Amino acid sequence: MGLILSKEITMLKRTNNCGELRLTDAGKRVVLAGWVQSYRDHGNLVFFDLRDRAGLTQLVFDPEVRPQAHRLARTVRCEWVIAASGTVRPRGEGLENPKLATGQIEVIVDQFEVLNMAKTPPFETDGESKTNEETRLVYRYIDLRRPEMQERLKIRHQVTTLVRKYFNDLGFWEIETPMLGKSTPEGARDFLVPSRLVRNTFYALPQSPQLFKQILMMSGMDKYLQIVRCFRDEDPRADRQAEFTQIDVEMSFVDSNDVITICEKLVALIWKEMLGVEVPLPIRRMPYAEAMADYGIDRPDLRFGMKLKDISGLAARSTFKVFTSTVASGGVVKGLCAPAGDMISRADIEKSLTGLVMDYGAKGLSWGKVKMDGPTPTFIGGLGKFFTPQQQKELVQRFEAKDGDVIMLVADKEAQANKALAPLRNRLGRDLKLYDPSRYEFVWVVEFPLFEWNEEEKRPDSVHHPFTAPVPEDLLKLETDPLHIRSQAYDIVLNGNEIGGGSIRIHRPEVQQKVFDLLKITREQAEARFGFFLKALDYGTPPHGGIAFGLDRLTMLLTGTDNIRDVIAFPKTQKGQCLMTGAPSEVDQKQLDELNLRVQKHSHTPEQPPEQK
Ligand code: AMO
Repeated sequence: MGLILSKEITMLKRTNNCGELRLTDAGKRVVLAGWVQSYRDHGNLVFFDLRDRAGLTQLVFDPEVRPQAHRLARTVRCEWVIAASGTVRPRGEGLENPKLATGQIEVIVDQFEVLNMAKTPPFETDGESKTNEETRLVYRYIDLRRPEMQERLKIRHQVTTLVRKYFNDLGFWEIETPMLGKSTPEGARDFLVPSRLVRNTFYALPQSPQLFKQILMMSGMDKYLQIVRCFRDEDPRADRQAEFTQIDVEMSFVDSNDVITICEKLVALIWKEMLGVEVPLPIRRMPYAEAMADYGIDRPDLRFGMKLKDISGLAARSTFKVFTSTVASGGVVKGLCAPAGDMISRADIEKSLTGLVMDYGAKGLSWGKVKMDGPTPTFIGGLGKFFTPQQQKELVQRFEAKDGDVIMLVADKEAQANKALAPLRNRLGRDLKLYDPSRYEFVWVVEFPLFEWNEEEKRPDSVHHPFTAPVPEDLLKLETDPLHIRSQAYDIVLNGNEIGGGSIRIHRPEVQQKVFDLLKITREQAEARFGFFLKALDYGTPPHGGIAFGLDRLTMLLTGTDNIRDVIAFPKTQKGQCLMTGAPSEVDQKQLDELNLRVQKHSHTPEQPPEQK
């Protein structure tokens, strides 16, 4: 592409953006600068839509006004960068564009300058992109020109601005914590960074600033905030990136109500300011046990009902071997009743829905479609034949089933049944359109157990992290019955997405030590990993607690996308790659030598799981 030199090269300095001129500006002289979104050459007149992040303005080139400008305009192509000066004038009768904020005016150009030419872009920048995501990520700078992407990043910026102001007004200080640190305890794999100066040692990138923010409380900082990047080397998903951002908060001398109240007011403020939506406060709180029983998951989508029901008692009296033996061995028969009508076919259930629950570890899906044409219900599908007519009636009553509903059951250990039924419920809720997708249903899930049993390692595991405090009444159970201790943890959930989680922390060294003991972290391991933290606990630690919101997830929900990459300027793919820069990449031998590292050539690539929510 040769360089086109304008005869009229000037240093045109922008006076206005491309989204702000209105009829009231008619007659003004302006200079606009931006990208040529589209051009129309009508022979005598040439029109451009000039774009910047504020919007579009129509430029008109008229040979009668300035022949050179008109001639040059005819050579310009999409995505060229230009600056143009001219006069604002009303568009002619019937030529207004009501879809554009600037649609009542145009700028008649008398002078302009090509600031830069552009190759033909690999995809168009107007409106919804139908281009595949890979191409969008390779050419992210072009993708980010699309108004949809610009709006998402704007919303993200506005949220962080609101958050900073909100916490500042409450006396929180934003304090940065190190990126090069020591392994932290969120339980994911660490990203490691080799140290050059201390040979054969590694930093870990923070999975969260958990220990640092607690130490800041020990340092008397009282109220801490940080909008902070966190790193977890886990497989990315639709709502998960290896590199993501938290709104991280910690406070001293508080109980869980204080943290919850401050945070729900923030959420209400964000929804009000960003979407004009009132979030009624207080947000309801649901004990973990209720969430698991009714929804099979600790992040229930409350936009619709279709609660799960445990019918183990009834199933144990059936003639179905799978049910009776599962219940006899301590498992459950649990399921839901879908108001399916004609919306799901036998094939949908037997292929797609059964496939779904099996992907989540269930052995199968038993089902029956209810027919209510006589005094006793009958069932289409396999389920009916295992129950007596009286039991069939009971089944229908338990699920409050109506004609055309489909009862679907999974028999398994309770945790496994829940694991399969929760995604089934979500899928059916969506497919059967059981909710208005524009609704927002928030819930705090509270009273989590402190530990869950890790069958593989035959020991308790922290449900949140090892620094979460038990409820005071359950402290003694640390000695006697650890699996029944309730924790002071809380998660905030929106429409089935966990948008934040936190807890009141352990602030007494002996309790912390006891928790490490129960987790079978030996004194030596605890000393090596968290010794600095245990030491700090000994020097006067205030009671404290906090929370972290996932900023990316918040922004996803605010912008209505279900792809986390849409709200991150430069995200990574499923394989953790940046397609624009090519990271991660090999490095020079010299760099490896400096770090005393050697790369083994026969490396294996871990398998990638399918993208799932
Ligand atoms: P947690 O691990 O629950 O808690 O993380 C807090 C919130 O961060 C978001 N989140 C993620 N978002 C995108 N990609 C990921 N890989 C990812 N992982 C987590 C979620 C989640 O609710 N230190 C504790 C907080 C505390 O106790 O104060 C912590 O990190 O929205």
